[in-house]
Amino acid sequence: MIAPVRRDWSPKDLFNALTPAMFTAEPSVVRARWDRLWPELYTEYDARHLKKELCIRNLIKTNEAEAFFNAWAADEERHTDGFIQIMELVAGGSETDLRQRLNTRSHDFSAISEFLKDEFSLIVMIAFDEMCTCRAYAAEREFYAGLGNRRFLLWLREVIADEAVHSMNAVNVIRARYCNRVSEVGVILESLISGIADDTSYTGTFVLDYFGTAYTKELLANCRATILRNVAKPLTPAEQDGNNRRPN
Ligand SMILES: [Fe+2]
Ligand SMILES: [Fe+2]
Repeated sequence: MIAPVRRDWSPKDLFNALTPAMFTAEPSVVRARWDRLWPELYTEYDARHLKKELCIRNLIKTNEAEAFFNAWAADEERHTDGFIQIMELVAGGSETDLRQRLNTRSHDFSAISEFLKDEFSLIVMIAFDEMCTCRAYAAEREFYAGLGNRRFLLWLREVIADEAVHSMNAVNVIRARYCNRVSEVGVILESLISGIADDTSYTGTFVLDYFGTAYTKELLANCRATILRNVAKPLTPAEQDGNNRRPN
């Protein structure tokens, strides 16, 4: 089995030397930061609801996918915790209030049920979505630089790297378990991209949270091309060996 890569870092360690007093600003600035960070926080948090939905639908069938989702869920919780810390530091947030707000949100998976048909279509969707998220975060460098401490840029670098690893790990599930279905990936991604409506269509599903200006048509098309390229790479002999040693 190809084990998912997991990166070792902690937002707590990154931010423990910082206090909200270091980042005071005009109320309008604080409000703007809040408006910018809140969707980042809740989309990360929504990973736990997607994972729950996968359990309800009994979608996870292979050891590879199970290992992928366990590593992924732990990372998305780490991102959630980090965004809560950032909102406490720069946007006047409090963890208690933010967690209460998170708990009152609703989740409707009917909009993506086409991609929850089986483990394969789910993993294709995740591989693409994580690549989009990775590149959209990369486009937000200016905002994090503007918060006034290099640790926010270090945070962004860690999150971008995690999202890239998520996409790669999902791609590896496809390469290891679904190489006979690689020809279907393009059609699934076409369907995903054409189904993306607008900002208001997000229903708490974690995936397809394509808000804001970073998610251009070009970004989506480039991510599609990247995923198609990555899934087409055959397993290396070393990967093949690992795959054979730990069969399902
Ligand atoms: Fe994330
Ligand atoms: Fe992710």
